[in-house]
Amino acid sequence: MKKTILITGGAGFIGSHVVRLFVQKYPDYLIVNLDKLTYAGNLLNITDIEDSPNYVFEKGDIVDEAYIECLFEKYRFDGIIHLAAESHVDRSISNPNEFIFTNIIGTVNLLNAARKQWKEDFENKLLYFISTDEVYGSLGNEGFFTESTAYSPRSPYSASKASADHLVRAFYHTYKLPVVLSNCSNNYGSYQFPEKLIPLAIHNIKNMKAVPVYGKGENIRDWLYVVDHAKAIDLIFHKGITGETYNIGGNNEWKNIDLIMLLCKLMDKHLNRKDGTSESLITFVKDRAGHDMRYAIDASKIKTELNWEPSLQFEQGLNLTVEWYLNNEPWLDNVTSGAYQSYYEQQYIKR
Ligand code: NAD
Ligand code: TYD
Repeated sequence: MKKTILITGGAGFIGSHVVRLFVQKYPDYLIVNLDKLTYAGNLLNITDIEDSPNYVFEKGDIVDEAYIECLFEKYRFDGIIHLAAESHVDRSISNPNEFIFTNIIGTVNLLNAARKQWKEDFENKLLYFISTDEVYGSLGNEGFFTESTAYSPRSPYSASKASADHLVRAFYHTYKLPVVLSNCSNNYGSYQFPEKLIPLAIHNIKNMKAVPVYGKGENIRDWLYVVDHAKAIDLIFHKGITGETYNIGGNNEWKNIDLIMLLCKLMDKHLNRKDGTSESLITFVKDRAGHDMRYAIDASKIKTELNWEPSLQFEQGLNLTVEWYLNNEPWLDNVTSGAYQSYYEQQYIKR
């Protein structure tokens, strides 16, 4: 094998797409997928590549320092793509601690292990940290997040990701550890856990259940198809400049309510329902505490320097996504059984 690459969080939503891309595109890399398999991690997300000769799965926790040291000893990684995280803002509001452990301590454990293993020999080594646009805070009607926008995280989730970003850069400046970072906007597509807006809405519409829209539905997000994010990660990992940060976005801003209306129309079509059937399920619920108003990414740096652009129009991507969830009922039934039910009741029914 030419390289041994650790991908953390590869059983999650974005991680599973990154693992799939790397396993299929780079047969001469050994891809080690490390995942704790929390409620959000699911080996069903990667059954298509699990028997590949260049793929290994390791179940483990990035917060466990001794375990991480052993794993690095076992594989002697050339590269690390770190996606494992607690990723849902609403969960960070009800219980911030897990976000501090996984997103901050877990990241420091990986930084320390890489530093210990690579010593001063950094040639052809790289630790790539996958971050979020939420570290930049909340925009008004105007403007975009660039790579030099000042950090202003406002939820426990974004504050934990921002802390990790700072630590990754601190290891670069202090120890010369070769790192690269990217901050991406909201992703959508297959295998996303249905606590996030788009899969949750699809699941509820399918089951003729209320579609909860926070506040007045006026908050704006910039949506990117997950496969395009995975392709950007591949490019940055191979061609990005060490020490740099790249913003990744879909150039695709939607008000939540407009997005949900579009989704309702698509669902009526796919389910052969009368126009307006799904729209009648829209239910405005209590707003999220500290709800960021608008995220919007200026992705001109990655476009100019690495020639990356989103490949799909939103309606195309959303259509593919709806089709995937409707054609993969067993997956959806599997992840929405058990603990999902009590999460859902706590999050929505009490309002
Ligand atoms: P996800 O919640 O779907 O998956 C996270 C994965 O990490 C799961 O498989 C989980 O089991 C694993 N994990 C959690 N804690 C762990 C631990 N302590 N040790 C090992 N594994 C652990 O998340 P996602 O949406 O795929 O996001 C992946 C990364 O991308 C995160 O770092 C997130 O901050 C970032 N990101 C996400 C989005 C988005 O829209 N989803 C946008 C920008 C950035
Ligand atoms: P989400 O998918 O949780 O992503 P993030 O909070 O990281 O942007 O939410 C996307 C937007 O949708 C956000 O403005 C909150 C809103 N939202 C709802 O209106 N209803 C819901 O049930 C959920 C989960 C989110």
